[in-house]
Amino acid sequence: MCGIIGYVGKRQAIPVLLQGLYKLEYRGYDSAGIAIIDKNTSEIKAEKQVGKIKDLHEKLWGKKLEGNIGIGHSRWATHGSPSIENAHPHISQSKTFAVVHNGIIENYIELKNELENKGYKFISQTDTEVIAHLFEDLYTGNLLDTAVKVAEKLEGAYAIGVISKFHPDTLIAIRKGSPLVIGVSKDENFIASDIPAVLEYTKDFIILDDNEIAVLNKNKVELFDIGKNKLKKEITKVNWSVSSAQKSGFKHFMQKEIFEQPRAITDTIAGFNSLDKTELFNILENIDRLYIIACGTSLHAGLVGKFWIEKFAKIPVEVDFASEYRYRDKIITDKTAIIGISQSGETADTRFALLDAKNEGAKTIAIVNVVGSSLSRESDFTLYTYSGPEIGVAATKTFISQLVVLFLLALELGLKRRTISKEDYNYLIKALSKIPSKVEKILLLDKSIKDLAYKYMNTQDFLFLGRNINYPIALEGALKLKEISYIHAEGYPAGEMKHGPIALIDENMPVVAVAVKDKFYEKILSNIQEVKARKGKIISIATEEDKQIRQLSDDVIYIPKTLDELYPFLTIVPMQLISYHIATLLGKDVDQPRNLAKTVTVE
Ligand code: AGP
Repeated sequence: MCGIIGYVGKRQAIPVLLQGLYKLEYRGYDSAGIAIIDKNTSEIKAEKQVGKIKDLHEKLWGKKLEGNIGIGHSRWATHGSPSIENAHPHISQSKTFAVVHNGIIENYIELKNELENKGYKFISQTDTEVIAHLFEDLYTGNLLDTAVKVAEKLEGAYAIGVISKFHPDTLIAIRKGSPLVIGVSKDENFIASDIPAVLEYTKDFIILDDNEIAVLNKNKVELFDIGKNKLKKEITKVNWSVSSAQKSGFKHFMQKEIFEQPRAITDTIAGFNSLDKTELFNILENIDRLYIIACGTSLHAGLVGKFWIEKFAKIPVEVDFASEYRYRDKIITDKTAIIGISQSGETADTRFALLDAKNEGAKTIAIVNVVGSSLSRESDFTLYTYSGPEIGVAATKTFISQLVVLFLLALELGLKRRTISKEDYNYLIKALSKIPSKVEKILLLDKSIKDLAYKYMNTQDFLFLGRNINYPIALEGALKLKEISYIHAEGYPAGEMKHGPIALIDENMPVVAVAVKDKFYEKILSNIQEVKARKGKIISIATEEDKQIRQLSDDVIYIPKTLDELYPFLTIVPMQLISYHIATLLGKDVDQPRNLAKTVTVE
């Protein structure tokens, strides 16, 4: 939820920390802070501010803070409201240690009581402050020893970065349950919650695992397990470009990411095809039931995937909210496999649900965007989406890439299980290869979709309707609109309307209906008629050349023709654009909507 960064090296630390924090801001943005070790005095100097990184940046203008080692933090409040006191870094009582933390310390009240009894004074309501005081309290003269002692005391999830005035050249990081990467370079090294934060300085990363500690100096990175045994870990080379983590001329990351979708589809197809899937098919060979678990947008991709896997591979699939699945009485046999879908690979609900199922004997597969993320390492097999970094809080290009992976997985499973013929497989693959250019065509409608958004921007509520494979797209359309515009929206299977929600329809209610020319076309037309009869406003997403739909709709967005099974790749795009334009016309912060974080690492 929060973002952490740390630097030790030859440069001034503050600009590096600030740049990193701007990149991490999507993870949390109610307050921020930095701490460095002053070059001349070796004292810890910290600055914090409530608000966004730019507010912290402004506060730092003109301040003389010089040092080549420091830590920074962008916060998404869990314990204590956004305030300067609660912002990180937290400093120990005698100002000897500074700490940034992402995660939750579950036993902090107990630790706080212990420390208070020893005379430590707390100035924040956070769980993190205990870590700073613990470092001071347990300090042995050796930073690694102290870190181990602190880690032994902490329960919960954390990624921690620490600097100390006693060791002005050393940055220490501990990971248990929250993401943390080490960026490795010449004469400088970094810690960060994710790769894009330091991508402009290095493409070489070490992915820290749980219960590992990194000790960083300017010229070296040493890794240890919690028993202080030295570890050797491989360097992961990342091929993301710096520009892929920048706006490249677009107004917002979300807009850029919507427009990157044709490329994301092509890259994900290529990535899937180049992967050795022997192990995957060994895992899936004899399974008779699949569960897909995920949250939010990733869950909606899973709902589409269910249609494809059941249709092409004839395997029954259940899709569940990860937060619900975790606490169910799970029915797991040696023929059960779980697919966890997550852009970040760090979503706590999804990770822990998958781990629990794995412990109960399920085979596990992850569909993930972030290379080396926790979910990918905790699963038996990982299928990556090749979307590149997604910075906007609202998922767009990663959704479409998740669809690609699910579609290809369903087809390959179908082929292996002989539930589809090679001819059908080739036919469907060929149709998929034409999707990127069809998405390009829809993106050309951007201007007219903006006009449409202008017409409906002042509405209080929206309904999104779809049938069959486009029903999850209605759910996703509604989620996109509510999370970035704060307009209330509901997604419904169109046939379910008459069982209740139709009571909501009046002349003020816009209804976005997926009415493409597939085998449900006539049925959705009837559903649209039902809305029309109650004076609702209809915005149809329809197939090009469909004249009939015009009679029934107030507005129509035409998309290219494709196979029935492939429409979700196309119908989602106008929905993303409608939401994006309504939100920006309303002046909302689409990349960092209120109350949300890109990666939700708490349950
Ligand atoms: C998407 O627009 C949302 N911000 C959110 O629902 C997101 O999809 C969800 O939190 C899951 O994230 P993940 O894919 O990283 O696991």
